[in-house]
Amino acid sequence: MTASPTNRFLAPDAAARPPAHVRHAKLIGWVAEMAALTEAKDVYWCDGSDAEYERLAAQLCAAGTFTRLDPTLRPRSYLARSSPSDVARVEDRTFICSERAEDAGPTNNWKAPAEMRALLRTGLADGTPPLFRGCMRGRTMYVVPFSMGPLGSEIAHIGVELTDSAYVAVSMKIMTRMGRAVLEVLGNDGHFVPCMHSVGAPLAPGAKDVAWPCNPVKYIVHYPETQEIWSYGSGYGGNALLGKKCFALRIASNMGRDAANAAEGRPGWLAEHMLILGVTSPSGRKRHVAAAFPSACGKTNFAMLIPPPTLSGWKVTTIGDDIAWIKPGKDGRLFAINPEAGYFGVAPGTNEKTNPNCMASVAHDTIFTNVALTDDGDVWWEGMTDVPPAHLIDWQARDWTPALAKETGVKAAHPNSRFTVAATNNPALDPAWDSPAGVPIDAFIFGGRRSTTVPLVTEARDWTEGVYMAATMGSETTAAAGGAQGVVRRDPFAMLPFTGYNMSDYFQHWLDLGAILARSGATLPKIFCVNWFRKGADGKFVWPGYGENMRVLRWIVERVEGSASGELNAFGLTPRYRDLDWSGLDFDPARYALVSSVDRDAWAGELVLHDELFRQLAHRLPAELPEVRGRLAARLAG
Ligand code: GTP
Ligand code: SPV
Ligand code: MN
Repeated sequence: MTASPTNRFLAPDAAARPPAHVRHAKLIGWVAEMAALTEAKDVYWCDGSDAEYERLAAQLCAAGTFTRLDPTLRPRSYLARSSPSDVARVEDRTFICSERAEDAGPTNNWKAPAEMRALLRTGLADGTPPLFRGCMRGRTMYVVPFSMGPLGSEIAHIGVELTDSAYVAVSMKIMTRMGRAVLEVLGNDGHFVPCMHSVGAPLAPGAKDVAWPCNPVKYIVHYPETQEIWSYGSGYGGNALLGKKCFALRIASNMGRDAANAAEGRPGWLAEHMLILGVTSPSGRKRHVAAAFPSACGKTNFAMLIPPPTLSGWKVTTIGDDIAWIKPGKDGRLFAINPEAGYFGVAPGTNEKTNPNCMASVAHDTIFTNVALTDDGDVWWEGMTDVPPAHLIDWQARDWTPALAKETGVKAAHPNSRFTVAATNNPALDPAWDSPAGVPIDAFIFGGRRSTTVPLVTEARDWTEGVYMAATMGSETTAAAGGAQGVVRRDPFAMLPFTGYNMSDYFQHWLDLGAILARSGATLPKIFCVNWFRKGADGKFVWPGYGENMRVLRWIVERVEGSASGELNAFGLTPRYRDLDWSGLDFDPARYALVSSVDRDAWAGELVLHDELFRQLAHRLPAELPEVRGRLAARLAG
């Protein structure tokens, strides 16, 4: 089955002979073509079974990629350590290759599709071979059929990822509905999005493999017009699990916008970087909220929130923790589904106090990546316990002690270390999480990580001002992406790295969708902006966050009901101290002022940053947004 180097354009036998249940000629042809291009040693069609997962996990253990954790402390769970050069999404290596540069817009990296195809697939005019030629030499190519959304449902979309990473194959089993059942839905000629992935580390004959193969050269490429994804060089997270950011956000945002036609009154749909939660009041009334926070800014935690004891009549249930596909229903309401089936969540900061639901979720059947290993075969990360274990093996497999950490600042777990776990492990999973119809959204929340300026919670005056709030949102960068951390940047809708087309067109799409639904008589969801991350003079977070965010969520839900009050300021409507429920929390009005004040000078500075964003996005920027800016400036001056 080994492709000989001299015979490298011939498909390996295995690709030519797919399993009998595969009947899709185009898929079979594509797999054969890609096997020939990459010169994969062999081709393996994933069936998505538990037995297959266990087999691949055992193989990953043998290869040194996985360490099996203690079966009593962490049943059926594994630790993976990535290469230190491959620990997060690479935004500067992510490309939207639309035919026209202006359709990718100024916030995306762009290259002409023909140029990118030459680089990746066909080779350059000067004879430079394409990156994918021979890139899987010595490796198995896994065929990973997956569905984003419930299998066979009308709202779901199917993708097939070809990957030379068994780690990706097992992760896709957790993160998506993956395997043979997807091929059945696909039938002879169903539509699928081809997702090509290679770690870019061919193995020479007889060469010893490394635990985490990858390549310093990385390309995360999207062709929106032809709906294709090509990813090279990384095996980590959103770079490699192509159903997630690449498909469910960058390609799907294009699908949702392409389905719209404002002139004909067709609203299309939305693919958003949002958690979806259900919140049930003590009287049993259930509402649904979708919230967009940038990467590592609290979506998973908010989606699994357990209210403090004094608000114990309230209950939060999780529909999704990272991505929402949102479509107008027949009645004009917006319905959201979670296209994923698992969570790829941030480990550091997670503990029994901040997120007990999450700790329960990762108690078994979990893949951990880049956390620390304890001496008894369990995992640990910064913030899991107040007192760290006396000795650990850190994420780079080095000895670690609290004393060493104190001296050098070295972290036991990488700040972007993560767990991969099935949604069904979550004790707070909403009964409707898998429902093809989705849940009706009553409120949208947008939030960033801002140590200053942005108040705890603000309600937008209307849809347009809400779109403005979301569009101009800023947030401090985190370890979820490569590059500097803690730098405030504009992150419109928490979608800066994920909108697969021109950001100004994306704003227009939101405005048009709201206008079309409002014209049909529908009540649009209210839009709110939150910030859990204001810091005091001591550099510490003032707001306790986590479960205590229920106090803010309660106010939001009661605003939707029409029962809570607040006070209008320049930015929008915010609760006064007396408008929030403080039972059981020692948080006086002076402290509240620290998280809720709207400082004129700070906001004048903020408006300058809005202007910078609007200058960058001037081409096709909806006129409504500078208009809102003008009103906001007038209110601040008044
Ligand atoms: P992605 O998976 O990257 O999209 O991240 P996310 O938005 O789901 O963020 P997540 O909930 O995983 O939180 C990221 C980090 O922020 C973790 O270290 C959390 O402990 C921390 N965090 C989450 N919620 C809060 C909060 O309310 N207050 C504070 N201070 N920290 C929080
Ligand atoms: C994010 O960065 O927003 C994530 C993690 O959710 S990743 O899947 O790597 O994109
Ligand atoms: Mn995310």
